[in-house]
Amino acid sequence: MEPRVRTHPSFPDARLAVLALDGVVVAPEALHAREQPLFAALEATDARRREWFAGRRAARAALTALGYEDIATLRRDNGAPNLAGHGADQLHVAITHGKRLAAAVAAHAAGRWPHVGIDVVDAEDLARVRAVAKRVMKPDELARATADPLHARLAWGAREAVAKATNTGMFVFALSKCWTLAIDTEDRAVQVNLDGIQVVYEPLDDGGVLVLAGASPAAYEAAQAAART
Ligand SMILES: CC(C)(COP(=O)(O)OP(=O)(O)OC[C@H]1O[C@@H](n2cnc3c(N)ncnc32)[C@H](O)[C@@H]1OP(=O)(O)O)[C@@H](O)C(=O)NCCC(=O)NCCS
Repeated sequence: MEPRVRTHPSFPDARLAVLALDGVVVAPEALHAREQPLFAALEATDARRREWFAGRRAARAALTALGYEDIATLRRDNGAPNLAGHGADQLHVAITHGKRLAAAVAAHAAGRWPHVGIDVVDAEDLARVRAVAKRVMKPDELARATADPLHARLAWGAREAVAKATNTGMFVFALSKCWTLAIDTEDRAVQVNLDGIQVVYEPLDDGGVLVLAGASPAAYEAAQAAART
């Protein structure tokens, strides 16, 4: 099965690709030639190999839809995607996988939101999010998250998506320096405390939620600087 590729109204310059994991046939030759050695070297369970494969397929589909057909998604030391190929330095991609889907978002440096991030929070993640909520969330955020599971999922998913959009990771930046201020359920938007960052979400049919984040160049630089301190 091929990933479904589309745009999102809040990120018209970006391309979003989603792939249901249960339809995925793992075929290493379907990966970019430069991705194949990484896949071969993965020492992981079948489930992890499947999600890695599906994430790369989604990333390739999103990048192809942007007009870049020959970009490989390699890996940085910290686990973040590292794009290689002609035009790669002008592109940004983020990958997520949940229990039932893999998804990727790709954007060009010239777009409105050049730095993009994505996260799926599964229905099953709620208990784990609630277990860490007191340590991680701000008091107002915690109150909302306690009252409403959607707020809990988004408090976590927004941080994960922002961590990826700013290429900072969760633990040195987003967990402590990003938090949600309000959720607009009509526009499906999440207001966060950081300037130059846009976050939106889509409820999934299975009770999970897909979160997309975009960072302006200034917001990306500010997050990078904050992550170093
Ligand atoms: C790794 C991390 C970026 C995301 O992890 P996650 O939400 O568990 O997993 P996701 O499937 O959404 O994302 C994984 C993808 O993020 C990307 N990624 C990993 N590290 C990254 C980083 N530092 N920056 C940007 N992207 C990163 C990778 O593409 C990875 O997929 P791949 O290894 O197949 O290429 C990081 O935020 C993390 O460690 N989170 C902790 C998760 C946790 O504690 N969960 C408990 C509560 S639910």
